[in-house]
Amino acid sequence: MRHPIHPMLVHFPVATWFLSTLGDIAGLFTHEQTSWVAGVLLVIGTTTALLAMVAGMLELGKIDQQSPAMKVANQHMMLMMTSWSLYAVSLFLRLDGTRLGQPGMVAIALSVAGLIVLCIAGWLGGKLVYEYGVGGRSDPS
Ligand code: HEM
Repeated sequence: MRHPIHPMLVHFPVATWFLSTLGDIAGLFTHEQTSWVAGVLLVIGTTTALLAMVAGMLELGKIDQQSPAMKVANQHMMLMMTSWSLYAVSLFLRLDGTRLGQPGMVAIALSVAGLIVLCIAGWLGGKLVYEYGVGGRSDPS
């Protein structure tokens, strides 16, 4: 496929992870329902990120190994994997069997860390597209 599907898929984990972290923070001041919604968003984000990763790998394979974009792409990939891991552990820590429980401080801290890493990784993703033209019509890589 000429048109990359990675940019189409990334919106789901970006939006749900972001809202999930906001929900976790809000849950510190409100009732249990907010934390449950944050947990559901976390499940959606962590699952859809896997699809985005597969699509990203396909795009990665199209970049010239020697191009400067490759280094940025690898940094983007490693940070996205780190963000995924932080969110996945945060999710795991709030599970009570198969039930979503109230997140503790460690789970919330991991969620916040996941969001910070996500922002840096997303910025690098934008750099790939808008600075190096990866995935564009006149892809120089
Ligand atoms: C871990 C494996 C991943 C690899 C190898 C990868 C690779 C890439 C590549 C090559 C690009 C530039 C070309 C394109 O947009 O298709 C890109 C852009 C981007 N990626 Fe990833 N990615 C990965 C995971 C993710 C994940 C999980 C997310 C979201 C949570 C994400 C978010 C983004 C964003 C926001 C952009 C910029 C898109 C745009 O501005 O149009 N990536 N990625």
